[in-house]
Amino acid sequence: MAGLTTTKAPFIEEAQKNGELYIRQPYELYSEENQETWRRLYARIRPKWEKFAHPKFMQGVANLALNPDRIPRLEEINQFLQPLSGFAAKAVSGYVPAYIFFDCLRTRAFPTTVTIRDINSLDYLPEPDIFHDVAGHVPMHTDRRFADVLVRFGEVARSVAEHAQEIRDQEQRVKNVESIIKGMARFFWFTIEFGLMRSGSELKVYGSGLLSSFGEISHCLESPDVQRYPFQMEWVVNQYFEIHHYQPLLYIVDSFDHLFDQVELLEKWILEGRLNNLSPGEPEISEADLASFLDASVRV
Ligand SMILES: [Fe+2]
Repeated sequence: MAGLTTTKAPFIEEAQKNGELYIRQPYELYSEENQETWRRLYARIRPKWEKFAHPKFMQGVANLALNPDRIPRLEEINQFLQPLSGFAAKAVSGYVPAYIFFDCLRTRAFPTTVTIRDINSLDYLPEPDIFHDVAGHVPMHTDRRFADVLVRFGEVARSVAEHAQEIRDQEQRVKNVESIIKGMARFFWFTIEFGLMRSGSELKVYGSGLLSSFGEISHCLESPDVQRYPFQMEWVVNQYFEIHHYQPLLYIVDSFDHLFDQVELLEKWILEGRLNNLSPGEPEISEADLASFLDASVRV
């Protein structure tokens, strides 16, 4: 049975071929092996969450009633999630262009991958899967303040689109928008995906890339090879990152309020033109990501 294994799912290939971004979660297609993958991923990371995850994340896991034994049905997750923060997980067929992704956040929808990694590669895959998206991201969305951060981030994307309209010179507009997207991607990476947060006298993990990684969740807090610095906007937006190995450099925020304030600051910096010419390097901004912002700037 074909199942819904990442990069090997005919249902997903078909949806992509037909240009369908938003899809249903075809739950009946998960194979027993897919379910076993979820069971193994969950069982081995659960003790690590208890040790390293931010308390709000653990509360989120409990509030969502995440099942250790079965891949979650998004419908059921949303029944718990929506009353708490208004957020909903929304199934997608794969890659979502940057502006559309951020704009979903603005409307409290979280584009969610429904495939699950191959049982033979539990540790690392470059693509997101349902374990990363639902076990790594969605528990944080149960927290109202964290949810507000994501919405605010979506509003910043909209501001960028509006701001881009005002740049008359076409070449300049493309150059500036590309740089701003790079800065936003770096900000997102070093907070929502790989952020650390103070919790009392300790450091805890709230970034989803860390929360869904069996190896990195402990490495990021315990290894002497990792540099951990207080969040500093001028560093974060200029700092390139690579996705294929453990992160050598992470940033710490004090609280969700602190994080929210940083998103506000990000918008201020964008409008002041301070992200127009950032340090080059990763991430490369794809044509589709750039086009998604430029198209939006014509529409808003
Ligand atoms: Fe993610």
